[in-house]
Amino acid sequence: MASVFNDDLVQIIDLTISYSLPGSAPVRAVDHASLEIHRGEVIGVLGESGSGKSTLAAAILRLLPPNAHYNDGSIMFRGGNLLALAELELRTVRGKEISLISQDPALSVNPVIRVGDQISEVVRAHLAMNGSKRRQHVEELLRAVGFDLPRQIYSAYPHQLSGGQRQRVGIAQAIACRPVLVIADEPTSKLDASLQAEILALLCEIRKRDGTAFLVISHDPTIFPGHGGYFSETSSSLHASAGASFGAVLRERTRQPRAISGH
Ligand SMILES: Nc1ncnc2c1ncn2[C@@H]1O[C@H](COP(=O)(O)OP(=O)(O)O)[C@@H](O)[C@H]1O
Ligand SMILES: [Mg+2]
Repeated sequence: MASVFNDDLVQIIDLTISYSLPGSAPVRAVDHASLEIHRGEVIGVLGESGSGKSTLAAAILRLLPPNAHYNDGSIMFRGGNLLALAELELRTVRGKEISLISQDPALSVNPVIRVGDQISEVVRAHLAMNGSKRRQHVEELLRAVGFDLPRQIYSAYPHQLSGGQRQRVGIAQAIACRPVLVIADEPTSKLDASLQAEILALLCEIRKRDGTAFLVISHDPTIFPGHGGYFSETSSSLHASAGASFGAVLRERTRQPRAISGH
């Protein structure tokens, strides 16, 4: 699938995934899905519950459970197929180049480790920074996701934070190594409406600041452009999904997010 743009980031081609279940026929969760993500763009994947969205999200980072099978297709990134990479090579991609914000902020953080140390661990795994530099970097990340007192948050345990605060921590962790792509799987579905708006605004801000591309997955059309939702400061259009089992793929493409406004 050739692209007219030379800045392809990820190309998902004909991806087909099924789950095997003991005693019954396999479930096809993703059916010949094709999707291109370019640098700095936001792609929204909209679909009903059970339509394969989380399977797609986890498939990109090869985080599917053992009963999942890649039946067909490829996921191209940096000239290679992620599906052909060895586990060790994948670790250089996960968290560093592509990261995932999960649906449930409670699950994305370890309850017994201070939140700052959790983020620091991701940084340590991928970036060459000494201890004090790393600490400073983590505090800056916490500030960037909206905490006015990053030192206090650094030392907090997840249970001391609200759901919205934990999701901010999850976002700080996801952007810690300045990935080129962040996959956000229903990033706000566990939050109440006012927090949803704040978190989506934060994702927009990060995208503008760092040029990060986002794959935003949701069952809720109102968060997408053209539906009165977020990511709507730029022009957008609705694309039917290319054979995928999910409902629709919404694509917002812009080269210069700051240059287009007023929508
Ligand atoms: N670990 C699993 N084992 C078996 N079937 C699964 C598993 N995870 C998901 N499925 C099935 O795959 C389909 C897609 O699920 P999922 O990707 O979670 O959809 P969504 O995120 O859109 O709600 C559903 O039919 C679901 O029941
Ligand atoms: Mg899901």
